[in-house]
Formats: sequence, structure tokens, C-alpha cells
Amino acid sequence: MDLHFNVALILLALVTPVAFAYDPSPLQDICVAVNDLKSGVFVNGKFCKDPNLATANDFVFKGLDIPGNTSNNLGSKVTPVFVDQLPGLNTLGISMARIDFAPNGLNPPHTHPRASEILVVIEGTLYVGFVTSNPNNTLITTVLNKGDVFVFPIGLIHFQYNEGKTNAIAIAALSSQNPGVITIANAVFGSKPPISDNVLAKAFQLDKKVIDYLQSQSWVNN
Ligand SMILES: *[C@@H]1O[C@H](CO)[C@@H](O)[C@H](O)[C@H]1NC(C)=O
Ligand SMILES: *[C@@H]1O[C@H](CO)[C@@H](O)[C@H](O)[C@H]1NC(C)=O
Repeated sequence: MDLHFNVALILLALVTPVAFAYDPSPLQDICVAVNDLKSGVFVNGKFCKDPNLATANDFVFKGLDIPGNTSNNLGSKVTPVFVDQLPGLNTLGISMARIDFAPNGLNPPHTHPRASEILVVIEGTLYVGFVTSNPNNTLITTVLNKGDVFVFPIGLIHFQYNEGKTNAIAIAALSSQNPGVITIANAVFGSKPPISDNVLAKAFQLDKKVIDYLQSQSWVNN
């Protein structure tokens, strides 16, 4: 084997542990998030509370047994347990969510810019899928029943739809304390201020009137 290749392998081995983590690795045991509005500076994440002042409460979120209210246009509700709801998650690179679905309820096509998502169905039946990036745009899709687990790779557009006749519940875990959510329709047709209808008409191969209609709709965040 040639020497340059070996050197390259060693260098790769040295940098790999950093490259594998999406959120930065913690530099201390615990870092309970606090809002420091006075100092007017931001860090990549949240400020840490003095670790000596941390209590069990900082690491507890209660209420994930409570069904989300699915009375909206989509018939679904996401209850996030991200760093904003659970400050002890700060710097840990994980979070979770509960998703409730009425019959025909949809968690519409969206992406998490900072996290992969692994989801388990604990009640009902969900038709789920994600689409790979250009140029293939392959749809990877299946139907999940109670106990089935599915993973949505980081950044890819995905959805979950309750095609069963009863309510469905899923619990998701995400590989970021703050995964971010970009709901495709909301971002494209519900941006504030609106994107020019010239741009969207061309992008979607639609008449401007159709774009104006879409932009006039109310795009709810579930
Ligand atoms: C659910 O949301 C709807 C619409 O916002 C509201 O009218 C209803 O009171 C809510 N139900 C509960 C149980 O909170
Ligand atoms: C994507 O499509 C190209 C051309 O059709 C094909 O050669 C390639 O194998 C596909 N890649 C994947 C990951 O499906």
C-alpha cells in the first residue's frame, strides 16, 4: 500500500470522531439551558446554567402521555420535547416528539435540517415515506403497524399519514436537541412576505392564479 494512502487513512481516523456527530459533542457533563437575554450574545446552542444549580427538574418533561389536539386542517398534532421544552437536552444531540393522528390525519411533507428521525408506532397504522435527493428523487415508502419502527434520514423530505380507521400515535426520537422543521407547503406558499408568484409559477409549472390561490390559503403548523 502506498505511503500517501496510509497517511490519508490515519488522518481520516483522527478526524472521524468529530465528523460523525451532527450536534457538537458536549464539553462538560451537564449544560442546562438558560435564557440570558441581558448579555445579547449567542452561542451554538443555549447558555449553560451553573452545573451546581442544576436539579432533576431540568432533566424532566411531563405530559407525553397526553394526546395532542388533532382538530386542525391536517388532523395531526406534534408535541415536541426539544431543548426549548427540556433544557437538560442542551448540547446532548438528541430529542423526541409525540405525534397524534386522527383518521386521515397527515403530518405533511417536511424536513428536519439538523436531525435524522427514528419513529415507533404505538397505536394505529401509518403510511410513511421519504424522498431521496436529486436527481433520483426515489420515494421510499411503507405501511407501519403498532410496534413497527422506521427511520427518516437527516434532511430528506418525509411524511406520515394515518390511513387507518382509528387514531394513531407515534413516538419519534431525533438526533439533535433542536432538529428544526421545514414544512414544504408552509415554507414555499406561506412565507412572510410571500415569494413572488412569478418565481413559484415557473418553479411549479403552474398558472400564477393557482399560485395566488395557494398563497392565500392558511398553512397551519401542526
Ligand atoms: C382542540 O382545538 C380546537 C381548535 O383549536 C378547539 O376548538 C378545541 O377546544 C380543542 N380541544 C381541546 C380538548 O383542547
Ligand atoms: C440514480 O439514478 C441514476 C441514473 O438513473 C442511477 O445510475 C443511479 O444508480 C441511481 N442512484 C440511486 C442511489 O438510486
